[in-house]
Amino acid sequence: MTKSIQIPQHIAIIMDGNGRWAEKRFLPRIAGHRQGAKNVRMVVQACRRLGVDYLTLFAFSTENWKRPRKEVDALLKLLIGFLADEMPEMLTNGIRFNVIGDLDMFPARVRSALIEGMERTAHLKDMVLTLALSYGGRDEIVRAVRHLVEKVQEGALPLEEIDESVLADFLDTRNMPDPDLLIRTSGEQRISNFLLWQLAYSEIFFTEVTWPEFDEQQFQRALEEYGRRQRRFGLTQAQILAGNDGGGR
Ligand code: FPP
Repeated sequence: MTKSIQIPQHIAIIMDGNGRWAEKRFLPRIAGHRQGAKNVRMVVQACRRLGVDYLTLFAFSTENWKRPRKEVDALLKLLIGFLADEMPEMLTNGIRFNVIGDLDMFPARVRSALIEGMERTAHLKDMVLTLALSYGGRDEIVRAVRHLVEKVQEGALPLEEIDESVLADFLDTRNMPDPDLLIRTSGEQRISNFLLWQLAYSEIFFTEVTWPEFDEQQFQRALEEYGRRQRRFGLTQAQILAGNDGGGR
């Protein structure tokens, strides 16, 4: 993969189409997730190589709990296996492992494996790999607002000080920049409750290709398309050319 293109600082991905990939091949859905997990490895390695600072993957939504028990269990197993398998690579390559979402929803053994993964890599600084797990954008905002109201009620946060940056500090993504690029595979053109607040100004790349088939070449296409987009953040082109960055958003 070439490095001559503009590299986003933060890439977020909705990895969709594992089930369809498997069903098309008369395989069980979990075979699609397994293939998808292999692709997670590919994209993590590619991002690390290219110098992407943050990669955030939608791996399990708040709605995914409603899937058949067998599929949920298999997904959790895959997740824990992935974390164990990838830990040596993450440690060698300076990748900090992070989770956003409602960790309280997970069985204790899954939760402790995730927490251990975060603790073991907490000192690493070359890239942050975030998995969104039991994650929903609305749920995240509700949790943030509850926490924020608690602070106001305790008298620790004056109401008039609440602005966008204060609210952002209560989100799971505090200390992370907003995604520059969102990729969604498998033909659906919606955000599906992913990073609702954070995607406000992100470029979005949709592709028909399913996640298990999304290879390095497809990834390169997404980056090239991103390189062609002009991000204006609500400003005019003249303002951009004059170097006004719109307050950094
Ligand atoms: C969407 O495909 C994908 C998911 C719900 C889970 C994503 C999980 C992985 C890529 C594998 C495990 C992840 C890690 C980090 C190891 P879908 O099942 O909704 O596909 P469909 O829309 O075709 O049914």
